[in-house]
Amino acid sequence: MADCKFQLRLTIVGLLLVALGTLEYTLAATASNVALGKPANQTDTANGADPSRAVDGNSSTCWATASTAVEWTLDLNNYYNIEEVSIQGPGSQWVTSVGAHSTANTTSNPPENIIGDYNRKWWYGALIEVAFAEKVRLSGVDIYEAIGWDAAGVGEIKCYVEDGWETVWNTTSKRIDSGVVTFSPNLTKPCSSSRLKLTVAPGYPHTYIDAVRIHGIPIGEAKLEMGLTHGKNEAENIMNLSTNSTATWSPDNKGPYRYLRIQANPKNETLSLCEVQVQGQLQQRTPYFQVATGIAMPNPPISTVFDVMSKTECAFVCLRKTKPECVTAQFDQATSRCALYNGFEHNHDPSNGKITIVFKFAAHFFAN
Ligand SMILES: *[C@@H]1O[C@H](CO)[C@@H](O)[C@H](O)[C@H]1NC(C)=O
Ligand SMILES: *[C@@H]1O[C@H](CO)[C@@H](O)[C@H](O)[C@H]1NC(C)=O
Ligand SMILES: *[C@@H]1O[C@H](CO)[C@@H](O)[C@H](O)[C@H]1NC(C)=O
Ligand SMILES: *[C@@H]1O[C@H](CO)[C@@H](O)[C@H](O)[C@H]1NC(C)=O
Ligand SMILES: *[C@@H]1O[C@H](CO)[C@@H](O)[C@H](O)[C@H]1NC(C)=O
Ligand SMILES: *[C@@H]1O[C@H](CO)[C@@H](O)[C@H](O)[C@H]1NC(C)=O
Ligand SMILES: *[C@@H]1O[C@H](CO)[C@@H](O)[C@H](O)[C@H]1NC(C)=O
Ligand SMILES: *[C@@H]1O[C@H](CO)[C@@H](O)[C@H](O)[C@H]1NC(C)=O
Repeated sequence: MADCKFQLRLTIVGLLLVALGTLEYTLAATASNVALGKPANQTDTANGADPSRAVDGNSSTCWATASTAVEWTLDLNNYYNIEEVSIQGPGSQWVTSVGAHSTANTTSNPPENIIGDYNRKWWYGALIEVAFAEKVRLSGVDIYEAIGWDAAGVGEIKCYVEDGWETVWNTTSKRIDSGVVTFSPNLTKPCSSSRLKLTVAPGYPHTYIDAVRIHGIPIGEAKLEMGLTHGKNEAENIMNLSTNSTATWSPDNKGPYRYLRIQANPKNETLSLCEVQVQGQLQQRTPYFQVATGIAMPNPPISTVFDVMSKTECAFVCLRKTKPECVTAQFDQATSRCALYNGFEHNHDPSNGKITIVFKFAAHFFAN
């Protein structure tokens, strides 16, 4: 009886070896954008610019944070060998917050009406400061405004630099008699900023503004990190967005990795990104394992299999487990239990007597 069970076990092990060996051989995948549609998160969100916009395949939609010292994270939901990562900053941005302002009627036309895309909701006043998520080398400004009766168009645009406000465009005229217009002035001076101050043309009490958009390449760097487990990153690179607004990186160590984190560099600056692409290919679960001792697994197992006779059998139990996939197993000789985990989260704990079985591709992560 015992012999028979043993034979059956060996047969299963043999079949698995063959089946999985073949699988590995036939799946020579090509890299694709594995970030598309994966779950993204960020510490805070400005004006509905939610984190998924960086992985929606559309570089016209961007995420933005309301504050500084923020991070954006992505879970690729699986382990990928990473060929290249690219991040794209905004080419244009809408207002994310308003600063000092005068407002003619805060009930009907509050300054917050300027935030975001145009929507025919107006701010109405003489002066307003607006801020954008990312500092750019300003190449253009579009002001969506209404002119008529006592309301003139914007007469002056100032840009905030280190030592104060600098005029980048001004006029003394009302510009036109009436109408709803998109005003895109030719700026008279270069400026790098994330803040503008808009003032009504001289001699008029008010201007009506629906929305403001700026164009320009970010002056910024982002720190990108990748890791096998959440919050523990093994590869990092500083990406410079200042040349082109798109920065790419081909990591020397391709991983595999599962988690990404992006922060502004330095961390005290704001950051907005429009697209994050991760060219990678799925790391196959191979029949090759390595064992480690003195490891504690902090997360609960996805399942535990009883009556397992050896670490080798535990390894194959792990290989067979899909949805969710087992990537790490722990064999407890004393109780003949094989616990299956779908992550690599672990702590070193010399007092832990269980045998940890990990796919070879992640074994380095468990080394002391
Ligand atoms: C997203 O981030 C927020 C703020 O840090 C956190 O409270 C939340 O649990 C996170 N959600 C996920 C799915 O990680
Ligand atoms: C990308 O997003 C912009 C802004 O929302 C939208 O106008 C455009 O149609 C989108 N493009 C695609 C291909 O979905
Ligand atoms: C402000 O607008 C509201 C709504 O249109 C209106 O009821 C109110 O009288 C206005 N207040 C002033 C001071 O004009
Ligand atoms: C505004 O423009 C006028 C010329 O139209 C110029 O003389 C003046 O110096 C400008 N004001 C500022 C603050 O740059
Ligand atoms: C900006 O300059 C271009 C070319 O010189 C001109 O065609 C255009 O009308 C100008 N735009 C404004 C708003 O003055
Ligand atoms: C980023 O690019 C800009 C523009 O080319 C350059 O001035 C700056 O020094 C670069 N920063 C780093 C850290 O390479
Ligand atoms: C800028 O990005 C485009 C693609 O988005 C690329 O073709 C071009 O070579 C880049 N230029 C520089 C200077 O990196
Ligand atoms: C962030 O810190 C750097 C270095 O300490 C400083 O030069 C920079 O002005 C700071 N930026 C902001 C927005 O506070």
